[in-house]
Amino acid sequence: MSNQKKLKKLPQEVVNQIAAGEVIERPASVVKELVDNSIDAEATEITIKVRNGGISLIEVSDNGTGIPEEDLAEVFTAHTTTKLESLDDLNTLMSMGFRGEALSTIVAVSNVSMISKYEDENIAHKVNFNSPDDYKVTGAARESGTVVAVENIFENVPVRKKFLKTAQTEYRNILNILTPYFIIYPNIHWQLFKDGKKVVDLESTSSKAGKIDKERVNEVVNQDFVERMESVFFDGNGMQISGLVAHPSDHMSRTKYQYIFVNGRHVWDNGVAKSVFQAYDRYIPHGKKVPFILNVQIKP
Ligand SMILES: Nc1ncnc2c1ncn2[C@@H]1O[C@H](COP(=O)(O)OP(=O)(O)OP(=O)(O)O)[C@@H](O)[C@H]1O
Ligand SMILES: [Mg+2]
Repeated sequence: MSNQKKLKKLPQEVVNQIAAGEVIERPASVVKELVDNSIDAEATEITIKVRNGGISLIEVSDNGTGIPEEDLAEVFTAHTTTKLESLDDLNTLMSMGFRGEALSTIVAVSNVSMISKYEDENIAHKVNFNSPDDYKVTGAARESGTVVAVENIFENVPVRKKFLKTAQTEYRNILNILTPYFIIYPNIHWQLFKDGKKVVDLESTSSKAGKIDKERVNEVVNQDFVERMESVFFDGNGMQISGLVAHPSDHMSRTKYQYIFVNGRHVWDNGVAKSVFQAYDRYIPHGKKVPFILNVQIKP
């Protein structure tokens, strides 16, 4: 008798859960996707609430444009986006998102509800999901913008849940994801609540998005060296680089406090970091590092 296993097609629900695990690895990935959506909705107030390192609850609330009632459930299906219409758009796109994937992914691995007040409608609406295709839309109370609540991440995907770390570590990941946003969006009033307690409250400044504002950096990084940082600006080769670099006397061994943004998106690039450290070569001891925050603007 052959013991060859029979070939089976996976149920769609399982396919979706596996795919979701690729985009959403941990609570911090949910926070990132929701915050990106709030930024794309032109929010100037973003409040994030997390419980139990985001494992029990992640809630992101904004005062952005909101979502029309007829789209409220639809935005949770795969490949639905208002940000991209054709392949050509990919060349000029400035939004954080464009795949139309994040919300459909999140709803596949957690309990989700959303309340949104679309700017051109009179009342807000709420959508509540039991599962990706079992949901209810009702009227709700909300002045403006959108709030998304994500509960019990990976509760229905035990293999993924197993890889979650302690609440403390997951919280640290969330804070690491959020810190660059706090820096590069000084125009946004950010608030963060951890287990019911307010831990971050950054009033918006008069600086535009993408402008590295010393006051904001001071509040976020909260280190003595920030006061001594110098502004830099470079314009050429089709790009502009602006930001803050540390005084040579503030060199350190740790690779911390080095932030690189490209068109406002947080990235890491060894080449850029190396160039900066090389520029300091004769002023700091060999192998030491310096804090810097740079935004590279390139025309898409
Ligand atoms: N906070 C929000 N305010 C207004 N509209 C939103 C908000 N969140 C989501 N949307 C709408 O829902 C759509 C789907 O969101 P989703 O995050 O799934 O995809 P996306 O942002 O278009 O692309 P990506 O998958 O790359 O994030 C968005 O295109 C947008 O129209
Ligand atoms: Mg998105």
